[in-house]
Amino acid sequence: MQSILVTGGAGFLGSHLCDRLLEAGHDVLCVDNFFTGSKQNIRHLLSNPHFELMRHDVTFPLYVEVARIYNLACPASPIHYQHDPVQTTKTSVHGAINMLGLAKRVKARILQASTSEVYGDPEMHPQTEDYWGRVNPIGPRSCYDEGKRCAETLFFDYHRQHRLEVKVARIFNTYGPRMHPNDGRVVSNFIVQALRGQDLTIYGDGQQTRSFCYVDDLIGGLLKLMDTPADFAGPVNIGNPCEFTMLQLAELVLKLVGGKSKLAFAPLPQDDPRQRRPDISVAQDMLQWQPRVSLEDGLQETIAYFRATLAA
Ligand SMILES: NC(=O)c1ccc[n+]([C@@H]2O[C@H](COP(=O)([O-])OP(=O)(O)OC[C@H]3O[C@@H](n4cnc5c(N)ncnc54)[C@H](O)[C@@H]3O)[C@@H](O)[C@H]2O)c1
Repeated sequence: MQSILVTGGAGFLGSHLCDRLLEAGHDVLCVDNFFTGSKQNIRHLLSNPHFELMRHDVTFPLYVEVARIYNLACPASPIHYQHDPVQTTKTSVHGAINMLGLAKRVKARILQASTSEVYGDPEMHPQTEDYWGRVNPIGPRSCYDEGKRCAETLFFDYHRQHRLEVKVARIFNTYGPRMHPNDGRVVSNFIVQALRGQDLTIYGDGQQTRSFCYVDDLIGGLLKLMDTPADFAGPVNIGNPCEFTMLQLAELVLKLVGGKSKLAFAPLPQDDPRQRRPDISVAQDMLQWQPRVSLEDGLQETIAYFRATLAA
């Protein structure tokens, strides 16, 4: 049993990670400032004696004794991270500095939740970890993309300079229960629109592709990455390589939800990538990991969650 810090633990991914760490018998300290996270996501854990919740902003230093740190704190959806872009960069960069400083002081192993956005709008498809990316440094998405890139730099510099045991996961689009209903991400958008009987908004011509990883698969990948040998830092793509166009996703959601919604087309937002699919060979080789949940099965679970949430 270990004492494990999860920053952003009240968020979508963080709350599932807390669940899995507690199930494995660990003590979990969940740190969150509730910017996008919610107490609802972790309410079922509050009475667990192995779970502790601390309201704290990772842009400020933190002094706690832990053996491992999962650094997930950061708004992940464009609506949220563009709301206060300066704070988004601070959360990624100052948050990384503070958590790396903590890891160094207490000799903890630390994992960074990085993102496929570090690849920007890629010229290479699918993306392998050695691709350096094509990111606009001054656009509306840059606070997130460049913040996460700088955080990766810090992780690798602490690894080289201070011999810190770091792990960098590049997470690709993930979906599942506890996503925010109004965060503008495509899976939650489509499901909520379909459940409300509204038309599904397709940006552009709907031919742009994404790959979608179910949350249980993703968390399994993070846990395996954390357990890799001390000298392996990554980065590792964690996501589902099955690629779907937005039109295919919309049609599947309509089939599973039923109802009378149609498709409504709207202009493509600035810097929206055309294609995004992970090459997961490194995860397969180093973690013996690959996703197992099909899009249809994962969507069923997610639709059931949103149906219950919207009805409450
Ligand atoms: N969900 C995805 O598809 C995806 C894809 C790539 C990367 N990621 C990364 O995974 C992590 C978790 O994403 P998520 O989807 O669960 O998003 P989320 O918004 O649900 O969770 C982020 C959590 O961090 C907290 N937070 C934000 N700023 C903070 C701060 N300054 N101090 C303390 N807590 C703070 C929020 O309140 C929230 O609980 C993020 O770092 C995100 O960049 C997610």
